[in-house]
Amino acid sequence: MKKNRMALLAVLATGMFAVTACASPSQSAAAPMVKKASAPVTITWSSGTVTGTGLRKTMIQLFEKENPGIKVQILQQPTNTDTTRATLSTQISGGSTSPDVFMGDVIWPGQFGSQHLALPLNKYLPKSFFSRFAPGLVDGASYQGNVYGAPWYADAGFLYYRKDLLKAAHLPVPTTWEQVQADSLKLVKMHKVKYGFVWEGSDYEGLTCDWMEYLSDAGGQVFNAKGQPVMDSSAAVKALSFMRGLITSGASPAAVTTFQEPQAMNAFDQGDAAFLRNWDYAWSNSQTPNQSRVVGKVGVVPLPTFAGQGGTGHACIGGWDIYINPHSKHIAQDLKFIEFITGYQAEYTMASKFSEIPTNYAVQSDPKVKALNPVLAIVSKTHLVGRPSQTPYYAKVSQAIYSNINAALSGQVSVKSALEQANSQLKSAGSSSSL
Ligand code: GLC
Repeated sequence: MKKNRMALLAVLATGMFAVTACASPSQSAAAPMVKKASAPVTITWSSGTVTGTGLRKTMIQLFEKENPGIKVQILQQPTNTDTTRATLSTQISGGSTSPDVFMGDVIWPGQFGSQHLALPLNKYLPKSFFSRFAPGLVDGASYQGNVYGAPWYADAGFLYYRKDLLKAAHLPVPTTWEQVQADSLKLVKMHKVKYGFVWEGSDYEGLTCDWMEYLSDAGGQVFNAKGQPVMDSSAAVKALSFMRGLITSGASPAAVTTFQEPQAMNAFDQGDAAFLRNWDYAWSNSQTPNQSRVVGKVGVVPLPTFAGQGGTGHACIGGWDIYINPHSKHIAQDLKFIEFITGYQAEYTMASKFSEIPTNYAVQSDPKVKALNPVLAIVSKTHLVGRPSQTPYYAKVSQAIYSNINAALSGQVSVKSALEQANSQLKSAGSSSSL
C-alpha cells in the first residue's frame, strides 16, 4: 500500500506531459458483456459547472449529435468536491441507480474503488481504450489493480497576475512568494487595487491543495518515505508561518480563510485583486467578457517558490475523472459517453475553448494545443506535486490537514499547535488507512 502510494506520487509528480511508459490496466478475460444500446435512452450525468463557461453543454451537444439514440441530462453538483463526494457516496451506497455517470475528483479512486461506489472500467472497456491517456493518469485513476475513473481533464495550480497593475508600478512578474507578498502590499498601499493576493484558504480540499504547494516549496512533506506523518517539521512551520503572514501583513484579505475557487476567482475577475492562485480553467474564466472585468489584462506564470530555492514552485495536481455508478441501468450508454468525452474531439474542444488540460495524450502532445492559450503553453514548466490520496481514507487525511491549517490561518490557534494537532490526527487517519 505504502509502496503503491509512493510510486503513484512519483509518477504523478513527473507524469504530466512526461514520456515515461504508462502501466496499462489488465483486461479481464471474463469481462461481462455489455448489452447493445436500445434508443432512445436518457442517461443522467452528475457534474459541476467546471469553468462556468458552458463546457458541459458543449460536450453534450457534441455527444448527442454523434449518438442520436442517447440523451444526457445534467444533475448539478456543488463546486465543493467534499460536498459532492459525501452526496454521491451516500446515494450510491444506498443503491440509487441515478446518476448513471458522474464527474469525480482524481482523489476518489481509493474510497470509491474500495467501497464499490464505481464500476471497474477495465472490466468493460478494452485495454486499447486506456492507451489514449497521458502517462500516469490511468494509474492515478486506479485502486488495487482496477481502473475506476476515465481521466477527463487534469488541473494544476498557476499564478495569475494583473499585467496592467505590475506595469504601472514598474514591478517585474514575481518568481518568489516573498515577492508576491511585497508586491501585493505595495499595490494595496498605493490604492491601486483592493486586495493583493487571493487564494483558496477555506477549510476544504482546496486548502489541502494550496498547502501541498507551500509545504513542498519549503522542502516539507505530509508523510515521510516510511509513511509516517511529518507535518510538524521546520519546513511546515516555514510554510504555514508564511501563509498566515500573508493575512496578518495585509497582502491577502482575512476573507481568504473562507474562499474556495469561485470566490477567489470572482475577486480577481472583478478587478479586485492583483494576484490569484487558481487552476488552469481560471484563464478561460478571466477572459470571458460577460463575467470578467479583466479581459486582456491578465498574465499567467508557474507558481513561485520561496526565495533562495530557484526555479518554479510546486503546483498541486488536480483533475476530474468520469466514473460509472455500478447500479446504473444504462451501462452500454454510459460507456459510449465515456469513450466520447475522453476522445480527441471532446478533449480538443475542452483545451481550446475552456483552457482545461487534456488527459488524452494525442491532444496533450499536439503542438497546436500548446499554442491555444498561455496556460497550456506553460503546463510543461510546472513542478507538479500530488496529494497522498491512494487510500480509502483520504478524506480523513485531507481533513486533518485543511482543518488545522485553516485554524492557524484564521488565528484561532498558533502555527505550532496547528501543525502538532494535524500531525497527531494524521497518525490516526494514517493507522486506519495503513499509510
Ligand atoms: C479542483 C481539482 C481537484 C481538487 C479541487 C479542490 O477541482 O481538479 O482535484 O480536489 O480543485 O478544490
